[in-house]
Amino acid sequence: MIVLGIESTCDETGAAIVQDGVHILSNVVASSADLHAKYGGVFPELACRSHIDAITMVIQEAIEKACIHPSQIDLIAVAQGPGLVGALLIGMNTAKGLAISLQKPLIGVNHVEAHLYASMMGKNAPMPGLGIVLSGGHTLLLKILNLGSYEPIGTTVDDAIGEAFDKVASLLNLPYPGGPHVELLAKQGDPKAHPFSAGNVKRSPYDFSFSGLKTAVLYALQGSNWQAQDIAASFQETACRDIAKKALLASQTFPCQAIYLGGGVCNNLRLREIFVETFPSLPIYWPPAHLTLDNAAMIAGLGAQKFLNNKSLSDPLDLEVQTRISFA
Ligand code: KG4
Ligand code: ZN
Repeated sequence: MIVLGIESTCDETGAAIVQDGVHILSNVVASSADLHAKYGGVFPELACRSHIDAITMVIQEAIEKACIHPSQIDLIAVAQGPGLVGALLIGMNTAKGLAISLQKPLIGVNHVEAHLYASMMGKNAPMPGLGIVLSGGHTLLLKILNLGSYEPIGTTVDDAIGEAFDKVASLLNLPYPGGPHVELLAKQGDPKAHPFSAGNVKRSPYDFSFSGLKTAVLYALQGSNWQAQDIAASFQETACRDIAKKALLASQTFPCQAIYLGGGVCNNLRLREIFVETFPSLPIYWPPAHLTLDNAAMIAGLGAQKFLNNKSLSDPLDLEVQTRISFA
């Protein structure tokens, strides 16, 4: 089965061709991140316009790179949400147009679920597992009973972890998106230089709060005698250890067989080291480098699995985008 995946939830326009849910024949991404850099975060209107400009070319390139003819596409999978409404609509309407013109079935996919699927794609994934999504828009802990069956455990009450990295980067005058720059700077710093702490949330020990940590960084910068690399290292260490600590607690609430991570922050190597230390006896599934950030291969892959698991039932052509999708 050949699936065309389309991704347009935020500032990346993606198209991919994936065979049988696991073999990536092409995976093309056009990012508008450069346009957002001077605003220090995604500017929704600019993101939407960039999707309009890029989407046809990105799809065309994905089809050419996969060396297929459009008539060979069996299914069109599109990120239905969560994301920016205008951005989602461009991917969705393009997918619908193609479904009508090629007369192929359409399936909507949860972008956050697809981030998790990226770590399982083509692998024998033991279940139940703990799913951890760490991206620019999401910080989630989930119990994964099976692909498509989830129980939410924890989330952030304020900033997403990627957003916290981006905001701290901005305080340190580093470019957007800031995560990779904070990581690079942190390599030369002392993670114990500043005694930062991440927030504990009263309502649940599995929830996250990063806004206090971000404010602590701001106060540290207003003081004297600081080194940017020490602030970056102390922030990164505190945030990553907080995630690992809460993930460990969450994994102890059920007979967890493996840890599955997804989202752009998974690129952070210090986070990976801390997870290996924290879970010495559980297999940890990381998304491969080309599937950590927003991409359409994860959408196509999950779309294929959903379609097959659901007896080839497709979605109607009046399928609506969802700016928020809950796992509950
Ligand atoms: O998954 P993604 O493309 O976005 C959403 O779906 O939201 O992730 C983007 C986020 C950005 O906030 C970026 O700063 C962060 O991932 N990121 C990192 C690293 N690489 C990307 N954060 C920390 N360390 C990194 N190496
Ligand atoms: Zn994402």
